[in-house]
Amino acid sequence: MATKQQRLCMNQADGEAGYALNSAVQSAAQSWMKPAIEEAVRGLLNMKSTDVPNSMVIADLGCSAGPNALALVSTAVDAVLHHRQAAQHDQGPLEVRVLLNDLPDNDFNDVAKRLDSFQQSTQSSGLLLTTGIVPGSFYKRLFPNNFLDLIVSSNSLHWTSEVPKELKSNMIPMYDEDEGLRRARPPLVIQAYREQFRKDFTLLLKLRAQELVSGGRMVVSVMGTRDYLCITPWDTIIIPLNDMASRGLISREMLDCFYLPMYGPTDVELREIIQDEGSFEINEMQVHQVVKSLTEPNEQARAMRAVFEPMIVQHFGLSSDSMDELVRTLEKQLTPGSPHHTYLVGDRVFVSASLTRKF
Ligand SMILES: C[S@@+](CC[C@H](N)C(=O)[O-])C[C@H]1O[C@@H](n2cnc3c(N)ncnc32)[C@H](O)[C@@H]1O
Repeated sequence: MATKQQRLCMNQADGEAGYALNSAVQSAAQSWMKPAIEEAVRGLLNMKSTDVPNSMVIADLGCSAGPNALALVSTAVDAVLHHRQAAQHDQGPLEVRVLLNDLPDNDFNDVAKRLDSFQQSTQSSGLLLTTGIVPGSFYKRLFPNNFLDLIVSSNSLHWTSEVPKELKSNMIPMYDEDEGLRRARPPLVIQAYREQFRKDFTLLLKLRAQELVSGGRMVVSVMGTRDYLCITPWDTIIIPLNDMASRGLISREMLDCFYLPMYGPTDVELREIIQDEGSFEINEMQVHQVVKSLTEPNEQARAMRAVFEPMIVQHFGLSSDSMDELVRTLEKQLTPGSPHHTYLVGDRVFVSASLTRKF
């Protein structure tokens, strides 16, 4: 029997449980990327001024929906406008094309409306801004050869192309109820995810190197960790699910075969992968602590729902009431004083990299 494709997308943008209202932490990661995006745009425009630039193509990978979808590309377009206003002489017309990518299940209706308003807002700026939507996996070719000048991406590239096959085939769960097994198995589980991420990120770099012009830039940020043996990015959702399984509210068997396609690398790991692949110079890498005080436990729990609900509903068939119970359980676990609190608010970071496609 063919296995059903895992439904990887955020909750639809609108509504209380939607990604638009529940993505404050991701938005903080985007603001940390602003200086690197501005620097990349300046670099591109200065480089291009020698042969009279007349166009720039910018793409965002894994844009999702809601206000975050356009945040990075608008930072880039603002930087273009700022650079041109500061220029001493008239630089002639510049055409900017903005392309937003995500998986086909994404809420592209929301993205289309935002792109339209964005385009209208730039009409008096002197730029010719055109926009487009590019559905598809960033683990496949998305754009023509030598086409893009700048790639941006936030909070998306830690999603892997699939769950490590060896975990599924050996029926090794992501999280063991048995504490002895849980302590013994993390290196095995994490190693499988580590290898999957290395394979995927290497492929992603190869594909994007073909699509970027020589000297093209890439500024990306992923959810990571300072120490991959301490905390894994899926714990915040697996631990409350485990609590619900212990109370008989969801099936233990179903939990044991629930896998999430994601991995949070350390900055050292990410650097090694980029260097080993070899298409890009690393201009800068940064690590930012996820500031939990940005949001309250209930907001953090709702943010998890916005990200994971479609996958959880698809796998467990949970009702909206059970999803509410999951959010309440996580909220309790994230509250100071809970036995899970220290672990769940552990050393989570965003790792960002500013890269240049080698000439
Ligand atoms: C947490 S959201 C991040 C959205 C936005 N960039 C932000 O910073 O708030 C992650 C997005 O990555 C998308 N995504 C995951 N895997 C993908 C893939 N292989 N190709 C394209 N998009 C993917 C998901 O559908 C989701 O919309």
